[in-house]
Amino acid sequence: MLIRLVYASRSTGALTPIDVKDIVRASQRNNAPLGVTGALVMADGVFLQCLEGDHLAVNALYHRILLDARHRDPAILQFGEIEQRLYTGWSMGLVPMSEANRALLLKYSPTAAFDPYGMRPRALDALFAELVAQARVLNG
Ligand SMILES: Cc1cc2nc3c(=O)[nH]c(=O)nc-3n(C[C@H](O)[C@H](O)[C@H](O)COP(=O)(O)O)c2cc1C
Repeated sequence: MLIRLVYASRSTGALTPIDVKDIVRASQRNNAPLGVTGALVMADGVFLQCLEGDHLAVNALYHRILLDARHRDPAILQFGEIEQRLYTGWSMGLVPMSEANRALLLKYSPTAAFDPYGMRPRALDALFAELVAQARVLNG
């Protein structure tokens, strides 16, 4: 069964661009053979990650990611069956922070800061769909 899981977490320290690259590289290496696709946003010390694939594969991967000491306070914001993937062929795309992307992140946030914890599932769908449509995710 094809599902999408979206969760938010907070980074535990100040992650450098190299740390983030390391996470994305490991994700691309590991997710592709699992058939998992998705995207990762990191802004204002908060991660927002979308994982798509077989429900058991995504579940297992999520539990492995939770063990990572680089983040804490994980919260699943969305989990459910989907008809099709948003990120076909993207084992893990990193959403680069630009002015345009910032505006997009805030567009669906209930507060002035990027706060995915407060975002409803429908807003998350809209945000990820827009990020894809506008190709504002670095392909990975
Ligand atoms: C916010 C966040 C998201 C991550 N997402 C993934 C992911 O999608 N896939 C993955 O394999 N590792 C992900 N990781 C990294 C894993 O926790 C772990 O470091 C990595 O899988 C280790 O890979 P390795 O055993 O191949 O070195 C993520 C880490 C963080 C902090």
